[in-house]
Amino acid sequence: MEIHAKYKNFSTALRCPLCEGSLQVVLSKSLICPNRHTFDISQHGYVNMLSHSPKSRYNKALFEARQKIIMESELFKLLHEKISAVIDTYTADSDTPSLTLDAGCGEGSHLEKILGISKNDALTGIGLDLSKAGIAQAAKSYKHSIWLVGDLAKSPMADRSMNMIVNIFSPSNYKEFKRILVPDGLIIKVVPRAAHLKELRDALHGSKENRLYKNDETISLFKKHFTLTDIITVSDARELNKRERTHLVRMSPLAWDSHKTALDAFINKSSKVTIDADILIGLNKKEMRL
Ligand SMILES: C[S@@+](CC[C@H](N)C(=O)[O-])C[C@H]1O[C@@H](n2cnc3c(N)ncnc32)[C@H](O)[C@@H]1O
Ligand SMILES: [Zn+2]
Repeated sequence: MEIHAKYKNFSTALRCPLCEGSLQVVLSKSLICPNRHTFDISQHGYVNMLSHSPKSRYNKALFEARQKIIMESELFKLLHEKISAVIDTYTADSDTPSLTLDAGCGEGSHLEKILGISKNDALTGIGLDLSKAGIAQAAKSYKHSIWLVGDLAKSPMADRSMNMIVNIFSPSNYKEFKRILVPDGLIIKVVPRAAHLKELRDALHGSKENRLYKNDETISLFKKHFTLTDIITVSDARELNKRERTHLVRMSPLAWDSHKTALDAFINKSSKVTIDADILIGLNKKEMRL
């Protein structure tokens, strides 16, 4: 599909992040609202819907390393399979196209994998992230989905436009998520558990770091907004080779303030790496009408 055709097909699912007006594709190259706020479709097919460029430590090198780990190693395989299975169960009885937003998608590889594993051919992915570097890389790499630079706290999605939201190791804005989900829409939120990437943490911060945290508070906040239907715990450990361990260090904010000697020691010593996460699954509560 031509890039602008993708936006034509789905422009009703979007709205202007500045004035909340509807958006139309004009001259096959821009999205424009009635107040003439204009967002150009870039050469690689993403749209920057932010009016400012926030500073971020998530840069091109980090996203390139992240893409290599997610696409070329099996570190997140189980996580992807579980999420795709949840989506397939949720959409099993529906033959209409479903829009799936990845809120805080980074460089898009999780969304690409999840849609690729899913047996449902009628899914369209939309990836949204604050980072232009992440979204530019996603748009260059993955042509089926729509990629938007934007703020999930003031998102460029129309009311009740998304069938599903996935939100993987990223911040949430539940008020916005509820606004943009259809009634009974599905939310899948992935949060780390105590042992997540523990080998890297141990190498960088020592094994005595207090890691007794639990996801109880996250779960009770989630339950205030959504009907929690399930929590799936994914615990998996995979052997990474030296190249993959190098990518893991480059992709991780854990390494930002760490010494080079500690990073090198992790890279040079063969190690398993643990993924330990909770997948919270919820349904958008229908509004109560009094
Ligand atoms: C820990 S990363 C996770 C990225 C990706 N989901 C992954 O697991 O590789 C958090 C992501 O959230 C994005 N982010 C943070 N605040 C955001 C906001 N307000 N709106 C959109 N994205 C945001 C960051 O740019 C970053 O890409
Ligand atoms: Zn506008």
